[in-house]
Amino acid sequence: MSSQLPEHNEASLPPQEILDLFKRTFDDELYGNDDEEETGLEKLQSQIQEVKSHLYDRDYIGAFDNDIKRVAYCCRWSPARALGYASLFSHFEPIKDILTCNEQEDKSVLCVGGGAGAELVSIASIFTPSRPFMSKYSKKNNDETTTSNGKLNLHLVDIAEWNHVTERLLKQIETHWLYANEFESFNVNCELNDVLTMNSQALQLNKLDLITLLFTTNELFKEQKAGSIRFLQNLNKNCQKGCLLLIVESAGSYSHITVGTKKFPLQFLIDTILCGQRGEESKGDWEIIDQNDSMWYRCGTRLDYPIKLENMRVFYRLYRKKN
Ligand SMILES: C[S@@+](CC[C@H](N)C(=O)[O-])C[C@H]1O[C@@H](n2cnc3c(N)ncnc32)[C@H](O)[C@@H]1O
Repeated sequence: MSSQLPEHNEASLPPQEILDLFKRTFDDELYGNDDEEETGLEKLQSQIQEVKSHLYDRDYIGAFDNDIKRVAYCCRWSPARALGYASLFSHFEPIKDILTCNEQEDKSVLCVGGGAGAELVSIASIFTPSRPFMSKYSKKNNDETTTSNGKLNLHLVDIAEWNHVTERLLKQIETHWLYANEFESFNVNCELNDVLTMNSQALQLNKLDLITLLFTTNELFKEQKAGSIRFLQNLNKNCQKGCLLLIVESAGSYSHITVGTKKFPLQFLIDTILCGQRGEESKGDWEIIDQNDSMWYRCGTRLDYPIKLENMRVFYRLYRKKN
């Protein structure tokens, strides 16, 4: 049976605020001037169709190979994902603690395949209300004497060149959500790189508190099976005790993978690498602390956004490093 995330978890900014951030960022593309032949939105819709056909063919490189396609993807898919991720991240108490730097310590998060903006905006939507000063959305009273909150270091690694998109989103986060002072404690590094070729130092695996792989593992395994297995083994070897790893995919979409002569669901292979063979989980490096094969996030029906917001039904696993 499916479970359902709330449309809005109080730990994050309200859904309409999140959508408004995308609307302001892509004002030109979403509401741009009409020319003689088509409106700005019509133009964007045809660019979205082009991206959609690449995604349908699982041609992920072709889908994201220029700025027009990347902006089109971001306008179409990232807002609904950001709403869903804001609710999903807030659903896990330990993730919420990391994203709000609740223990007054600096925290570090790596988002693999996180260039398209959904992780950035959803994380900012949880970080913002936790800040004591400067942010107009702060839940804390400015008169409260607070010990200084920690800094959130966010490392977004993506093989596609999303900088143009993330810079535009970040500018809006700074101007409308965090303001200059608090923006300094939201330390974002967007890196154009193939995560499968990066070593543990470049990824700073030993310092991470949270790693997210959202709608990205299928792609990694499609690109390079052996490299993806090595990447997970690298996490086993180098992540610190207590580090969390969140894997999310569309429910029911996991591909199958052939190892030797046998075909396995990809998730089975991932669990085996991270947690050990079935029956021998005590030897594994990670434990599963939460999982769900079918969790819905449904976007509110009164939300204002010019493109259809798609509901999502996800599969997730949340792992914690044991030692
Ligand atoms: C389907 S998109 C998901 C985007 C985002 N995580 C979300 O949930 O909305 C997959 C992302 O993974 C990125 N990606 C694919 N292979 C990668 C690799 N080897 N290293 C880093 N990023 C990769 C793609 O460029 C793309 O941005």
